[in-house]
Amino acid sequence: MKLLSPLSLAILAAMSAAPAAAKEPIEIIQPAKITAPEKVELGKMLFFEPRLSMSGFISCNSCHNLSLGGVDALPTSIGHNWQEGPINSPTVLNAEYGLAQFWDGRAKDLKEQAGGPIANPGEMGYTHELAVSTVNSMPAYQTKFEAIYGKNSVNIDNITDAIAEFEKTLVTPNSSFDLYLQGEQDAITAEAKSGYQLFKNKGCTSCHNGPAVGGTMYMKMGLVKPFHTKNPAEGRIAVTGKEADKYVFKVPTLRNIELTYPYFHDGATWTLEEAVNTMADIQLGQQLSEKETVEMVAFLKSLTGEQPQIVLPILPPSNANTPKPVPFEK
Ligand code: HEC
Ligand code: HEC
Repeated sequence: MKLLSPLSLAILAAMSAAPAAAKEPIEIIQPAKITAPEKVELGKMLFFEPRLSMSGFISCNSCHNLSLGGVDALPTSIGHNWQEGPINSPTVLNAEYGLAQFWDGRAKDLKEQAGGPIANPGEMGYTHELAVSTVNSMPAYQTKFEAIYGKNSVNIDNITDAIAEFEKTLVTPNSSFDLYLQGEQDAITAEAKSGYQLFKNKGCTSCHNGPAVGGTMYMKMGLVKPFHTKNPAEGRIAVTGKEADKYVFKVPTLRNIELTYPYFHDGATWTLEEAVNTMADIQLGQQLSEKETVEMVAFLKSLTGEQPQIVLPILPPSNANTPKPVPFEK
């Protein structure tokens, strides 16, 4: 029983956190409430802005492709100079629901997170200073920043603020499962309904819960049995330095999980069937029958929501003052 005790604790914590007994462990996703539309529009431009990278080639959207569920659909991302990244790119959809950002939770929120990739030598390979000079070189950007943040306000703080404001609108409401939760009995299939019961009864909801069906806690990957991977990431120990946090990761959202393959932080699992069986085995010490796997996957597919409808932003042209892109070395 010793091995199971952290899970029992999590189940107890999840139970005591629930205010009403009848409450479902999964809550519906609310549509985005846009209070600052100009800021969102500016953030969208910056999200699609490849000139925030050294090569002038990589934007946030390169690795968080909004045509592909907010991921790159690669085991690990490709960054500056074709470098292969160390870890799978998580989706930006519904990321705001996470208790912190990154697999190990090292950024406290979306704004703090957004500064990371620009200056990461393996991602966009730029510097914050050059990113600011680039944006500031274009009068059309200056005008937008001035209207929102005041005079001479192109700086990294405001660049990341606008990007975060845009990301907060990347939510996916009205999945068929949400319609079901709101009382539309026929919104999901009988198979998906059985899958949801299994998801609750087997204990998946002790970790995957809340509106994003994840993002509410950190948990060990390989709670009952070890996770076998070639990926060297050790999770939250990198943040806390505590041995107990080795292989502890943020529990990822399962919203739109049908779209965000390949799975797990190493991106080595390509099918939901395999991901579900791995989870049951190493997190819960259980084997699912073929029928149970099919039902569980049908439920997970019902979590695909309305994707953000994006009108591609048109970006202002570079000019003589804009720093020139530096091409990849090979
Ligand atoms: C080269 C690929 C790449 C680029 C470019 C990139 N990201 Fe990421 N992003 C990643 C990877 C990989 C991770 C996970 C890193 C980790 O957890 O250590 C990540 C994590 C995130 C997360 C955390 C999500 C979560 O659930 O924890 C957010 C939000 C995010 N990126 C937004 C952005 C924004 C905004 C930009 C542009 C400023 C950007 N990314 C540029 C690859 C990329
Ligand atoms: C003890 C906590 C815990 C339990 C119980 C649990 N999970 Fe997970 N789940 C996690 C963590 C942590 C990850 C991320 C692991 C990693 O990649 O390192 C994860 C990842 C996943 C993923 C892949 C997500 C992605 O974006 O790559 C799926 C799918 C999943 N879980 C489904 C399930 C199902 C189905 C069950 C029940 C059979 C379940 N989980 C039970 C903690 C848990």
